[in-house]
Amino acid sequence: MRDAFDRGGPTPPAAEKARAVQRMFDAIAPRYDLLNHLLTLNIDRRWRRRAVDRLLTRAAGDAVLLDSCAGTMDLAAEVAGRDEFQGLVVALDFARAMLERGRHKAEGVPVRPLCADALRMPHANDTFGGAIVGFGVRNFADLEAGLRELTRVLRPGAPLVILELSVPVVPPLRWLYLLYFTRILPLIGRIVSRHGSAYSYLPASVQTFPPPDELRRLMEGAGLRNVEFERLMGGIAAIHRGVKPG
Ligand SMILES: C[S@@+](CC[C@H](N)C(=O)[O-])C[C@H]1O[C@@H](n2cnc3c(N)ncnc32)[C@H](O)[C@@H]1O
Repeated sequence: MRDAFDRGGPTPPAAEKARAVQRMFDAIAPRYDLLNHLLTLNIDRRWRRRAVDRLLTRAAGDAVLLDSCAGTMDLAAEVAGRDEFQGLVVALDFARAMLERGRHKAEGVPVRPLCADALRMPHANDTFGGAIVGFGVRNFADLEAGLRELTRVLRPGAPLVILELSVPVVPPLRWLYLLYFTRILPLIGRIVSRHGSAYSYLPASVQTFPPPDELRRLMEGAGLRNVEFERLMGGIAAIHRGVKPG
């Protein structure tokens, strides 16, 4: 499978890609939230709320939940701040600077930040009552291994919800989106983040990521059942959900 670091040469080893991703997010952490909301015109907040709705309709209100690739912990804080939720959210990310940046969001709510690799989580099988990943699986050095690892740590019957960007298929939205995404967004991202490549990596990683129906098949291949997805805003993003059988 091609990935966003693939420049036509030999595929870099997974560990090398993982280190590059980790370093990149550590570097852009100070501007990550600002750019997220700016570049999506705040629509990401609505997508996150929808994804959390999907998680909490299937997970028990007192469960221990996982926010994998939590970044600055927006999703973890959204879950933990819900009135119907009395459990605990483990917010896992391997970029320590991202977790540090979002630390204030974990204050006074049941969120426990954890600096760890989502492909090798330190948890036993069947630990979590549900898991959510927002804009994270696209960055996995090995997507299929990452999906298997997420499935491993879920308890039988627990849901996995994945919120991820995708490319709209229907013109003219597709053309407008690609114009914005490949020309305008990298420019704004470079100026605001002062990082040379992170916001060119973003569109490249979305364009090389499997489309929603393929991601559904990969989730099924990882052992999840009842996998379905909904496209958001004409396919700019998608929410997938599936359940670990048992
Ligand atoms: C685009 S950010 C998304 C952050 C957050 N979920 C959100 O909704 O804003 C992707 C995050 O995934 C993390 N990440 C990518 N691969 C990871 C891995 N293998 N283990 C842990 N974190 C990972 C990055 O460090 C980064 O913070």
